[in-house]
Amino acid sequence: MSKPMWAGRFSKEVDSKVNAFNSSISFDGRMYRHDIMGSIAHATMLGKCGIISKEDSETLVNELEKVLDDIESGELQLDMNAEDIHMFIESVLTERLGEVGKRLHTARSRNDQVALDIRLYLRGEVYEIRALVDKLINVLCDLAEKHTDTIMPGYTHLQRAQPITFGHHLMAYAQMLLRDRDRLEDTVARIRENPLGSGALAGTTYPIDRDMVTELLRDNRTMVNSLDGVSDRDFCIELASTISIIMMHLSRFSEEIILWCSWEFKFIELDDAFATGSSIMPQKKNPDIAELVRGKCARVIGDNMTLLTMMKGLPLAYNKDMQEDKEAIFDAVDTVKLCMSTFIPMLETMTVYKDNMRKAAAKGFINATDCADYLVKKGMAFRDAYKITGGLVALCIEKDTDLEHLPLEDYKSRCELFDNDVYQAISLDTCVNMRNSKGGPSPESVKEQIWYTRNRITYPGRYTTVAHNISEE
Ligand code: ARG
Repeated sequence: MSKPMWAGRFSKEVDSKVNAFNSSISFDGRMYRHDIMGSIAHATMLGKCGIISKEDSETLVNELEKVLDDIESGELQLDMNAEDIHMFIESVLTERLGEVGKRLHTARSRNDQVALDIRLYLRGEVYEIRALVDKLINVLCDLAEKHTDTIMPGYTHLQRAQPITFGHHLMAYAQMLLRDRDRLEDTVARIRENPLGSGALAGTTYPIDRDMVTELLRDNRTMVNSLDGVSDRDFCIELASTISIIMMHLSRFSEEIILWCSWEFKFIELDDAFATGSSIMPQKKNPDIAELVRGKCARVIGDNMTLLTMMKGLPLAYNKDMQEDKEAIFDAVDTVKLCMSTFIPMLETMTVYKDNMRKAAAKGFINATDCADYLVKKGMAFRDAYKITGGLVALCIEKDTDLEHLPLEDYKSRCELFDNDVYQAISLDTCVNMRNSKGGPSPESVKEQIWYTRNRITYPGRYTTVAHNISEE
C-alpha cells in the first residue's frame, strides 16, 4: 500500500493493525457519489474564486466525473486498504492527474468534507424514507376506505372497551405516520446545511465563497460557525430519532398484527407469501415479518443511543470518535427502509375477517357506555346512569347473557326509563354510527379522516387540522 497522505511528519510506518482499525472505507465507501459531488462543488468554487486556475478547476471537475462513472460501471474498484473514501478518491485523482489532483484539497479538510458527505448522503435517504412513508399512508387510506363500516372492538388495557371500525383503527396509524412525515421534512431542512469551508475547525485564509458551494449543492444555508460546522452531528441524531419513532410505530402495528392473526383473535390472515412455517409443527403459519419489524425497532433505538452516547462527551471540534456515526446512522436508515418495504406489501395482501371482528365486538359488553348514554339522553345524570348500567352488566353475567338479549322486564326492574328502543340504541351499528364526533369511528368521520390524510400528502403544509380543512372547502 502507498504511504498515507499525512505521512510527512512520521518516521515509522503505521502498524498494520492500526491501519485496519483506523480505516472506515468498508462502511463509508457507500458515500463515493456524495464525496465526488462535494468535491465537484469545491473545485468549481476554487476555480471561480481564483484560488486555483480555471483550467485546473475544469480538469478536476472532468476527472471527478470520470471517477464517478468508473466506480459506477465497476471499472474502478474501491481499495479496501485505503483509510477512507475521501482519501481513496483523492488518491485516484492524484494518480490520474498528478500535480493538478493534489490541488483539490486546497482550503478544505477531511473534517468539513466528511460532515458534508454524510449530509449529502442522508438527504437522499430521507427522501426515500419519506416516499415509503407516503406509500404506507396511501395503503392505509385505501384499506380504511374498504372498512369504514367494518365493526371491531376498540381496546383499552387490551380489554374490550367500545366499538370502533377497522377503518378508524387504520387511520390512527395513518396519523402517526403523517407526524413521522413532518418530522422527516423538519430533519431534512437541517440536513441541508452546508458545513464545507469550515476547514479543519477554524475556517481558512483563502478567499473562498462558501455561499457559492451552498448554492451549487442546493443546500438551504451555509453553516454559521466553523467549529460547529465540523463538530455537529445533531442531524444524525435527529434523523436516528425520527427513524426510531417510525420504527416504534411500525413495531406497535406489528404487535397488533401478531395478535390479530392468532387463533384467539383471527381478525386477519397474512398472505402465504408474507408468512412462514415451522420446521416441526405442520399447522403453523407464523407472522415472522411483523415479529422481525418489532425486533428491529430495538436495534434502531440502539443506533440512536449509540449516536447520542458517542457525542455526549466530545470536546469541540472533530474527534475520531465521530467516525462511529456512520455505521449507526446507516444501519438505522437501511433498517427502516427494509422494514417498510416488506411491511407495506404484507399489509396490502392480508385478508381481513370482518365477521370475526364483529363477533368479538358483540361480546364483552362493549355497548355498556351506550346503554348509560341512553339513560342520559332520557334525562338522567351520567354517574347515575353509569351505576345502573354496571348493575345490568352484573345481571347479564349472572344470567349468562348480554345487554342485547336481556329482557325488557330486567331493564325496567332497574330503571323505569328503559323502553323497547333501548335495543336499537345499544345495537353495534347504532353505537358506531352515532360516534360521529370529529375524529370518531363512524363511517362518516372515518371518510373525513381519509380525505384529510390524502390531502396532507398531496398538498403538504396546506392542511393543518381537520377543522381548517373543512373551512377551506
Ligand atoms: N474517516 C473519517 C470519519 O469518518 C474522516 C474524517 C477524518 N478526519 C480526521 N481528522 N482524521 O470521520
